Amino acid sequence: MPWTACLVKFNPIIGYFVTENSKFPLWCLKQIQKRLATQPSVPNPTPAPQKKDFMTRFLDAAKTSQPPGYNIPQVLNWLLVNTMAGADTTAFVLTAILYYLLRSPSKKAILLQELDAANLSYPVSWQQSQHLPYLSACIKEGLRLHPPIGMGLERVVPPAGLAMPDGYVLPAGTHVSMNPWIVNRQPAVFGERVDDFIPERWMKGKGEEEAEYKRRVGRMKRADLVFGGGVRACTGKYVSFLEMYKVLPTLLGVFEVGLVDEGEWETVNRWVVRQEGVRCWLRRRGKG
Ligand code: HEM
Repeated sequence: MPWTACLVKFNPIIGYFVTENSKFPLWCLKQIQKRLATQPSVPNPTPAPQKKDFMTRFLDAAKTSQPPGYNIPQVLNWLLVNTMAGADTTAFVLTAILYYLLRSPSKKAILLQELDAANLSYPVSWQQSQHLPYLSACIKEGLRLHPPIGMGLERVVPPAGLAMPDGYVLPAGTHVSMNPWIVNRQPAVFGERVDDFIPERWMKGKGEEEAEYKRRVGRMKRADLVFGGGVRACTGKYVSFLEMYKVLPTLLGVFEVGLVDEGEWETVNRWVVRQEGVRCWLRRRGKG
């Protein structure tokens, strides 16, 4: 409902009462200050090799800007994007995949068997994780069932209008959007039991012809709006994949994980769909 923006987002009175928005920038600013405090005041001509994280790279990139020195607002901007767009989104998907796996012992057993047979080194590398088909299917199924962004992101119909499959043409300027929570539960695209966690739907079925499998998976992939679509699609998609493909096999390969509570989780949609009531215990595997 775009008109609600006039009531909330663009309403100057609301701004007097809302202080939440400043939490993220302040937290990010503190991280920059902490990191800068660790930098030597005189550059070391032979610095010890160090692993570069996002912050190191942002500071390096901002150093070359004009005027010379660190462009702190720019670093703050990049950090904010990373933390606001990238942290909770990925965490919610990981939580969902874990939750579904822990509630489906047979699926968890298949994944553990795959991990154990792969003779992995820990932490699992990106390269190793690319040879784990069941892991990949679990991640795709988790993203399908629990897209972190639970609202349609709007686009505006261009001057030529937008022809719908039934021939109706939406006029220029119309706001359109599709919510991945709805799209991802269409049986015509995703097959049977769309509310259930079934990683196998992403894999080749027993006796399924290769061509049919490709057509079926292609249909699901084309409907994928979890990371948005078009020119404004998520720029962090592959950072998120990198995290998920490494964290999940490492966590489940090293630890035995279980749910503390037997009850169902609660999900709350506040633009991002977060979960409540998912508490886990961990124990090193093979330690009894
Ligand atoms: C599972 C994890 C993630 C999901 C589901 C997700 C989803 C999305 C979606 C739906 C959009 C809007 C796309 C559109 O309007 O069509 C978006 C935009 C964006 N995301 Fe993500 N995201 C994730 C992780 C990340 C990460 C890890 C980062 C950064 C490290 C990131 C950075 C961004 C940025 C910068 C944009 C704005 C792109 C633009 O407007 O040009 N996201 N994301």
